[in-house]
Amino acid sequence: MIKEICVNGVYKNYVNGEWKVSESGNMIDIFSPIDGSKVGSVPAMSKEEVDEAIMAAKAAQKEWADVPLIERAKLLNKVAFLLLDHQKEIADIMVVEIAKDITSSLAEVKRTSDFILFTADAAKQLRGEMLSADAFPGYGKDKVSFVNRYPLGTVLAISPFNYPVNLSVSKIAPAIVAGNTVVLKPPTQGSISALYLAKIFEMAGLPKGVFNTITGKGSEIGDYAVTHNDIDFINFTGSTDIGRHISQITVMKPLLMELGGKDAAIVLEDADLKEAAKDIVSGAFSYSGQRCTAVKRVLVEDKVADELTGYIKERVEKLKAGDPRKADTVIVPLISDKAADFVCELIEDALEKGAKLLVGNKREKNLVYPTLIDHVTEDMRLAWEEPFGPVLPIIRVKDVKKAIEIANKSEYGLQSAVFTKNIDKAFNIANELQVGTVQINNKTERGPDHFPFLGVKSSGMGIQGIRYSIEAMTRVKAMVINYERS
Ligand code: NAP
Ligand code: G3P
Repeated sequence: MIKEICVNGVYKNYVNGEWKVSESGNMIDIFSPIDGSKVGSVPAMSKEEVDEAIMAAKAAQKEWADVPLIERAKLLNKVAFLLLDHQKEIADIMVVEIAKDITSSLAEVKRTSDFILFTADAAKQLRGEMLSADAFPGYGKDKVSFVNRYPLGTVLAISPFNYPVNLSVSKIAPAIVAGNTVVLKPPTQGSISALYLAKIFEMAGLPKGVFNTITGKGSEIGDYAVTHNDIDFINFTGSTDIGRHISQITVMKPLLMELGGKDAAIVLEDADLKEAAKDIVSGAFSYSGQRCTAVKRVLVEDKVADELTGYIKERVEKLKAGDPRKADTVIVPLISDKAADFVCELIEDALEKGAKLLVGNKREKNLVYPTLIDHVTEDMRLAWEEPFGPVLPIIRVKDVKKAIEIANKSEYGLQSAVFTKNIDKAFNIANELQVGTVQINNKTERGPDHFPFLGVKSSGMGIQGIRYSIEAMTRVKAMVINYERS
């Protein structure tokens, strides 16, 4: 049923409650990373069309903010249930559009439905406070401040290819439940999945203008959108390079950014090595490592490095690579040939500099086979750069101090994992790590989605996570009452 959004594979954008074709006729063909087959075409919107979407959102915002919160929450609940009704249809699109395996695609849609339900509830807990002036010297009880939270206005949501549904909704749902309106710029490779999502919002009965989409290459319309005077907040998830660029060209515009990562798994000699290997391999290779929170380096104490690496190698060799349409496939074609080229460049650099290949370093077009490289050292690019692909470097360290030093030397600071049976050591190491989150005895991961999720250094600005996202897209307004006390 949600196929109404396209005619013969030519998709439309959802603007001001209507499905609009590209006025200029300029389209972007989307090809599947699986086999290069054409998935469809999306409008390459012009600046005028971007204006139209942003103005629609701006025009709708005040009225939307006046809708009672309970009604906004009820609409979100409808979106959540409709998502589940169309879970398979949307997941199937994701599989062909971003080559995410069917199991992970189905899970992403379910997770997104759960996210929305939780958000609708969490919004009802949003509250202000009342302050009496006499708590401060020189003031009396005749002055009281009533503090409440208000929406920011029009939010520009920009999402990445690897979670085109979940990381769009992780911005849209908290924004609109708080009374904002949204313009979504989805990833070009992921646009069609996002347009299906937009159809679900329309089917739920969202008033026109509350949610709008703008498709088109970020390199062509991105700067225009982020610097648009009628955008009040930018919620961006993507690479550090683009995030840095956006923060450089925007002025006095509040930003929330989730960027790149180089999450380290630190393994101490007392760790349960088999368990650590299981978590590390799952964390490093699911969706071919195309996750910001993927484990992207292992820092292991020398004494247990051989044993741990052996367990990891056993698991990596069993990973199924190939067609994401098959349920047990883990290693899927990367999003583009360019992405595969970059991963292979990092592998080659490490091997040329003396690292030891244990598994992989095999490629068929944009399918890179799972690769495990031991004895990676600090002079190698793989120790520091984010591959966003199925390659895991093992860096051997003489002690915990060295592990912390190398972990913190990274420009990134998203998450780290610490594997040890000693909880004192775990907390002491966690205290030293310059990251947003430390996972103790687990792989690095964003979920569950009500936990705070943030990056420091080059990994981001601000905090995601349901309540945090709602607060980030609202602001405080104080009303101070001065009265004559009897
Ligand atoms: P990307 O290339 O930075 O693109 C992210 C989004 O930004 C896309 O929608 C892209 O549009 C858009 N964009 C590109 N240039 C822009 C500009 N000048 N102005 C505004 N928007 C612009 O990232 P990606 O390849 O989609 O995702 C992979 C990267 O994102 C990795 O570095 C990964 O670590 C990071 N990531 C981080 C998180 C997190 O939560 N921390 C989550 C997922 C991914 P186009 O698609 O049209 O280029
Ligand atoms: O890269 C997307 C980021 O949000 C990771 O999410 O749940 O796979 O850790 P998750």
